[in-house]
Amino acid sequence: MLEQIKRQKNNNRGFYVKMKLFHHHHKHGRTQEKINSCCFFRFYKWLLWLSLTLYFFSSYLITNNKNTPSDNSNINIINNKLSSLSTTQVLSSSKSTIVASRALIELTDSDSHKPHNYNNNSEVLRDLKIYVYDLPPNYNADWLSNERCSNHLFASEVAIHRALLTSDVRTYDPYEADFFFVPVYVSCNFSTVNGFPAIGHARSLIYSAINAISSEYSFWNRSGGSDHVFVASHDFGSCFHTMENVAIADGVPSFLKSSIILQTFGVKNNHPCQDVENVVIPPFVSPESVRRTLEKAPANGRRDIFAFFRGKMEINPKNVSGRYYSKKVRTAIWRKFGNDPRFYLQRQRFAGYQSEIVRSVFCLCPLGWAPWSPRLVESVVLGCVPVVIADNIRLPFPEAVRWPEISLTVAEKDVGKLGRILEHVAATNISTIQKNLMDPTVRRALLFNTPIEQGDATWQVLSALVTKLDRSHRRSVASSQ
Ligand SMILES: *[C@@H]1O[C@H](CO)[C@@H](O)[C@H](O)[C@H]1NC(C)=O
Ligand SMILES: *[C@@H]1O[C@H](CO)[C@@H](O)[C@H](O)[C@H]1NC(C)=O
Ligand SMILES: *[C@@H]1O[C@H](CO)[C@@H](O)[C@H](O)[C@H]1NC(C)=O
Ligand SMILES: *[C@@H]1O[C@H](CO)[C@@H](O)[C@H](O)[C@H]1NC(C)=O
Ligand SMILES: *[C@@H]1O[C@H](CO)[C@@H](O)[C@H](O)[C@H]1NC(C)=O
Repeated sequence: MLEQIKRQKNNNRGFYVKMKLFHHHHKHGRTQEKINSCCFFRFYKWLLWLSLTLYFFSSYLITNNKNTPSDNSNINIINNKLSSLSTTQVLSSSKSTIVASRALIELTDSDSHKPHNYNNNSEVLRDLKIYVYDLPPNYNADWLSNERCSNHLFASEVAIHRALLTSDVRTYDPYEADFFFVPVYVSCNFSTVNGFPAIGHARSLIYSAINAISSEYSFWNRSGGSDHVFVASHDFGSCFHTMENVAIADGVPSFLKSSIILQTFGVKNNHPCQDVENVVIPPFVSPESVRRTLEKAPANGRRDIFAFFRGKMEINPKNVSGRYYSKKVRTAIWRKFGNDPRFYLQRQRFAGYQSEIVRSVFCLCPLGWAPWSPRLVESVVLGCVPVVIADNIRLPFPEAVRWPEISLTVAEKDVGKLGRILEHVAATNISTIQKNLMDPTVRRALLFNTPIEQGDATWQVLSALVTKLDRSHRRSVASSQ
């Protein structure tokens, strides 16, 4: 199998190659300079000064130009549709300026060992290398025969895999990989009874995948799996159970304990289901469905619903082994605000509910069994202010998405005061929050695109992996030499 590894090279690394060549020139220049005249040194100094000036100027351009025309038509549509204000170009810059700036940034960065800039770390991602295991189709592709597999709430396991396959960080040479991605789809065994994903087979399927890769390749054994990456996109992530008490009792399977898990579940307190190196990722919302919703949205951006929630709200919640759905929070919302004209609350499923979100000012995001819900993403990408009601939740990508500036947090115990809290915000800072929500970088960070797009959710995952390079076997070998 190892012989089969294609050493296909990436042709998207033009700037990297150029930079390398230039860097080589530098070294050459320095040697020359030592040997003889000062003229080269002068030229070199001037060049350095020019590069630095251009670098600072271009980074100013880039960081101050949030409205850079994007290749991403989704985002453009979002911009146009969501905002009734016209999008103002801070500084118009042509594609060629941006491209030139990138070249300079990469050039300057290679010369100094300055700390990574996580606001825009495309230069950091440039060196990251990920090997994607080619597993037999029973671990992944076979499940795609059901179309829902790549579109439902847990489909980030599919989306991240697809994005990596065509991404610049992919390497076909496992010996140069920093991380190893193990593509196992565990969320697509939909129950014939209620349509929910049955994840009872998740542990055995992953275990079997690990057996397969560790017997065929040496990479799992050499690191104990610590540079291997998995997705666990359902309720309690790497605990692989939908009920918290069972999830906690089962814990993270021992065979995954040393690896990196990309999971939707995250809380700020200690929790057995995050007792593993992890990155909190957003739930999957189809970028295509978002685009369609925005196309149909009223052009004037008018929002006639004050507070919106559609979803399971039990009138009399059942005691399920000592736990109540949503810790009774949704029941409290229904009881208190069910007849309140400011609140549009619906208990039935409705496929077109995104069209309701786009008409709403506030979108309630109460916990379900787990603290997170797809509403967090849907509200943000459709411009409705998310009202997070899930104590201690750890939200995805806090560096890219400054959640406190684009959302409201209401404590579970204060849910009865929702009416007053929302009225207060509507009378004070709602326009600030809505303005922050307009930032296209925020919305881009929560959607998984195929292929990957700069700043999107998979891209944020890669940025998070860059901070974990100490786990890369290749890097640790390189640095100990
Ligand atoms: C980040 O930098 C790249 C070039 O290095 C540029 O193309 C891109 O627009 C920048 N992104 C943001 C969000 O500033
Ligand atoms: C899918 O889930 C059902 C239980 O709902 C289980 O009996 C079956 O074995 C699972 N299928 C696979 C291929 O794991
Ligand atoms: C890795 O370790 C397992 C368990 O010790 C062993 O069965 C397997 O053969 C090893 N893999 C390789 C490629 O040596
Ligand atoms: C809920 O059920 C558990 C047992 O499953 C029981 O111990 C507990 O007392 C019940 N709680 C209430 C409020 O009835
Ligand atoms: C808006 O006001 C609310 C309530 O006073 C406060 O909790 C929140 O942090 C404010 N948000 C912003 C972005 O100013």
